[in-house]
Amino acid sequence: MDHNHLDTKTPLLPSSQSPLPTETSRSESHTPTSANIRRFLAFSFVLIWILYSPADIWVSRQSKALHRFYSNVTNPTDICSSPSGPAVSHAGYIGLKGDTETTPKRSFFWFFEAENEAQNAPIILTIGGGPGTSGMLNPLSAQGPCIVVENGTVPNPNRWTEHFNLIALDHPIGVGASYGTRINNSRAAALDVYDFLQKFFRLYPNFSRNQLVVSGGSYGGVYVPHIATVIHEQNIALAAGKGQPGAIHLNLESMMVSNPVSDALSHYRWMLQQRCYNVPDMYNASTCAELFAVLPTCLEAIQFAQQQSEPGPRVAAMKACRPIDEGDRHGTVTEDVRRKCYSTDPLGCLAPSFGWIDDFFQRPDIKDALVIPDHVKFKILAEDVGEAFDAYGDIIQSAYLLHEPLLRDGIRLLHYVGRQDANCAWPGIISFLKLLRSPFQEEFLRTPDVPWPTAEDATVRVVGEKAGNMTYILIQQAGHFVARDQPKLVKSIVDHWVQNVPFEADIR
Ligand SMILES: *[C@@H]1O[C@H](CO)[C@@H](O)[C@H](O)[C@H]1NC(C)=O
Ligand SMILES: *[C@@H]1O[C@H](CO)[C@@H](O)[C@H](O)[C@H]1NC(C)=O
Ligand SMILES: *[C@@H]1O[C@H](CO)[C@@H](O)[C@H](O)[C@H]1NC(C)=O
Ligand SMILES: *[C@@H]1O[C@H](CO)[C@@H](O)[C@H](O)[C@H]1NC(C)=O
Ligand SMILES: *[C@@H]1O[C@H](CO)[C@@H](O)[C@H](O)[C@H]1NC(C)=O
Ligand SMILES: *[C@@H]1O[C@H](CO)[C@@H](O)[C@H](O)[C@H]1NC(C)=O
Repeated sequence: MDHNHLDTKTPLLPSSQSPLPTETSRSESHTPTSANIRRFLAFSFVLIWILYSPADIWVSRQSKALHRFYSNVTNPTDICSSPSGPAVSHAGYIGLKGDTETTPKRSFFWFFEAENEAQNAPIILTIGGGPGTSGMLNPLSAQGPCIVVENGTVPNPNRWTEHFNLIALDHPIGVGASYGTRINNSRAAALDVYDFLQKFFRLYPNFSRNQLVVSGGSYGGVYVPHIATVIHEQNIALAAGKGQPGAIHLNLESMMVSNPVSDALSHYRWMLQQRCYNVPDMYNASTCAELFAVLPTCLEAIQFAQQQSEPGPRVAAMKACRPIDEGDRHGTVTEDVRRKCYSTDPLGCLAPSFGWIDDFFQRPDIKDALVIPDHVKFKILAEDVGEAFDAYGDIIQSAYLLHEPLLRDGIRLLHYVGRQDANCAWPGIISFLKLLRSPFQEEFLRTPDVPWPTAEDATVRVVGEKAGNMTYILIQQAGHFVARDQPKLVKSIVDHWVQNVPFEADIR
């Protein structure tokens, strides 16, 4: 696999901000909802009919509650257990806007309920990077109740699901087990996530008021701010009596981002610092000399492209910057520079478990248990999705700027970053965080990185009370896949962050 696709790539800000299509059109398919829901709804209506008989109640109920869409969900049992027993989960498909039987557009999700007090527990939405990486990768290698091993799953002692609900989403369409009509940029992808969430909470109204946290890493550094922005914009519109008919307020509280690419400029500006100076034995002296000579052209091409709205200049900027990413690494693994790997199979170099997750979702018994149709071939990395985003030049944007209004409106932002990553390297990340013109900027610049309160080798910069409004954690012994490299520390970070408790405090 092209590691580029696994982890880099980002889009343009303003040009991709098409207005939300209004939802009045009811362009959704009128295919039947799953049999259970149908039965449930039929039952409710009959009940209402019997109890209140006037026809107008039936009609108003119908127009309010019955915004129909395709869904097919199941409760898989026996395939994933946490240390405390079989995980309670829901998995399946929700049809998005435009979905029909003949032109499907269906999002696959796996929703793990929290082990404790699920009905009140915060919900973490987790997605993949890429573009094109499955949203199942992080849950099934680090975050979920179980993790995938060579021939099945084992309980995960460091699961995020002990106290939090976790929605793993194959996003955007075309990734993992999601299938149908594609999109090619992160703004359109975020509109799809909003549509997904609205429908998700129709299926699970018992979770619709829970605190919501949007989480991602790598290319998630583009996805997360876009998703949070659409949710926030729509919440504001709803409060003003606008917004999409039938939509509900989503209780977006914070964002959690690991090793992101959120700004093409800082990403490339600092890449060579990491590969030439911070990491020994990666790029050699002549490669560095050659590539530092290319860097100004790359940065200039990005800056130029960001002043245009067409994809052409963005694609040209990607081409101008590509050499910087493609020097001879002399066997150093880009996503974890502590390791050398000379295999021709880059997936194997990253982690064998990624291949195991692929195998797992392709097993006929697992597909059955998760209602994945026969015709869908699960892929941990959908290269064609990456290619479509590349053709749009999606990575050439400064998505980090989207954090400014979110921070201003009180939505908290965490970055937790593995230092041993030369793909989304920490110097580029702290660089764009410093540039964020939020109410916290001055204090963020002044606040020192202090040693982690327990023995772990990490530092933390907290701005604001408790776990912080804007927080940056740098973890020494972790690469790109932070939660996989430091599962125990990351669980503690997530537990503190989501409950907004100071990191030095003991929780439970
Ligand atoms: C929430 O609702 C779903 C769908 O009705 C149900 O299966 C699940 O058990 C409920 N969970 C909680 C925690 O209420
Ligand atoms: C699963 O894989 C492990 C490690 O390769 C092996 O030791 C074990 O025997 C396998 N179990 C089954 C049931 O195949
Ligand atoms: C650096 O690496 C490149 C690519 O492998 C090689 O061609 C070049 O000879 C090396 N330069 C030095 C100074 O070792
Ligand atoms: C739901 O998925 C199962 C398993 O793939 C399939 O047999 C069934 O027809 C699907 N139902 C709908 C309504 O698509
Ligand atoms: C992106 O997708 C839209 C909608 O399908 C299409 O019109 C457009 O040409 C695509 N852009 C690129 C650069 O592929
Ligand atoms: C910072 O976060 C707290 C929650 O800990 C919130 O109440 C407060 O409004 C936020 N501050 C700002 C300035 O947004």
